Amino acid sequence: VAASAATGATGPAASTTATGATTTDGSAAGSRPEVGMRTVAFHGAHQAGVATPPQAYLTLLGLDLHDVVDREALGRMMRLLSDDASRLSRGVAALADNEPELAERPASLSVTFGFGPRVVREHFSGTSMTLEELPAFSTDRLEDAWGQTDVAVQICCDDPLTLAHCRRMLLKDSRAFADVRWMQEGYRRAVGTEAEGTTVRNVMGQVDGTVNPAETDDDFSRLIWSEESGFEGGSVMIVRRIRARMESWDKVDRAGRENTVGRRLDTGAPLTGTKEHDTADFSATDELGFKVIDPASHIARATARTPEEKFLRRPYNYTVPDVSRPSGEDAGLVFIAYAADPVKQFVPVQQRLAELDRLNEWITTIGSAVYAVPPGAADGEAVAQHLLA
Ligand code: HEM
Repeated sequence: VAASAATGATGPAASTTATGATTTDGSAAGSRPEVGMRTVAFHGAHQAGVATPPQAYLTLLGLDLHDVVDREALGRMMRLLSDDASRLSRGVAALADNEPELAERPASLSVTFGFGPRVVREHFSGTSMTLEELPAFSTDRLEDAWGQTDVAVQICCDDPLTLAHCRRMLLKDSRAFADVRWMQEGYRRAVGTEAEGTTVRNVMGQVDGTVNPAETDDDFSRLIWSEESGFEGGSVMIVRRIRARMESWDKVDRAGRENTVGRRLDTGAPLTGTKEHDTADFSATDELGFKVIDPASHIARATARTPEEKFLRRPYNYTVPDVSRPSGEDAGLVFIAYAADPVKQFVPVQQRLAELDRLNEWITTIGSAVYAVPPGAADGEAVAQHLLA
């Protein structure tokens, strides 16, 4: 079964379809093993996991290369990890996989590799891509534990066991080259909970992801895919770990919550509209002359003010036990975004939010990092191979 899934879903179309996934078995209605057999192509013009509709579960690994790892060794690591990712994405066991049965249900597994500024500077050649760490923002309270690393591996999957297996194989094969600095886990709705295509809610209860570039938009390529030489079809991954103070958020009433974001909680519609995808009218006023959407609300501040200020948000919720807090948990977003040029597209928006955003009363960014995401690898090749040759 795994082998037929492999041949059925490795065409370039699988990575670019509207759903980003293909079903390869004709399972009976009622049971849903077809979710387990869906695949997302690892190989192609772009890496999987960027334009791919977000799967249910995330692990984001932050790795630091050992001092002795030079360009040649990094190339070897990427050949190993790309081979693992390519196989596991097809439902095929990795080489020397001790638990090959755990590979049989790929469940839309995707693996995306990104490289921090130091690696781009010191190891990559034949590219005009430059990458700087994000500037400091006044509202950030960064913790070293969640800081910039050399490499990021974004693993997404609709099944947590398949994801865990993939993570284990990648960590096993990277161990000779790199240490794990952090591991960020995240989740969205489980598949089947809502109709596919429904905008998910985040852990704060808001419909999150309504205004976001879609692959069908005319400017998607320009906004998301890099045109730097050697990086054509690549992108830049921005990672922000954002803690939400759920204890004090609990005390805010519905009107307060809606005004904070500028959208309704039930439908996700802007406060000036009735349906989720209605365009927000930031100039509309009420009978007293006050703006219907508070100019300090999250969407009024975050909305693009130039054609450049747009990026693809691909966030996950996180919840980890923390009994030292009254809520018993540390929760928030592993906010991941992709942009061709974070300096032009992301930084001005984050700067504006740091200056003023009603949401800031309840959220704090505790981690920040940025990674250059090379283009996808052709069949049989490894990610970043051409940059490390
Ligand atoms: C929109 C929540 C952090 C950028 C939204 C929406 C919600 C939301 C509920 C409205 C629905 C939508 O269009 O998706 C949150 C939460 C955050 C957070 C809970 C942190 C815990 C950020 C950050 C950025 C950002 C850090 C970028 C620096 C945006 C943008 C929009 C948006 C660009 C669309 C604005 C528009 O044009 O209407 N966010 N957000 N958000 N958010 Fe956030």
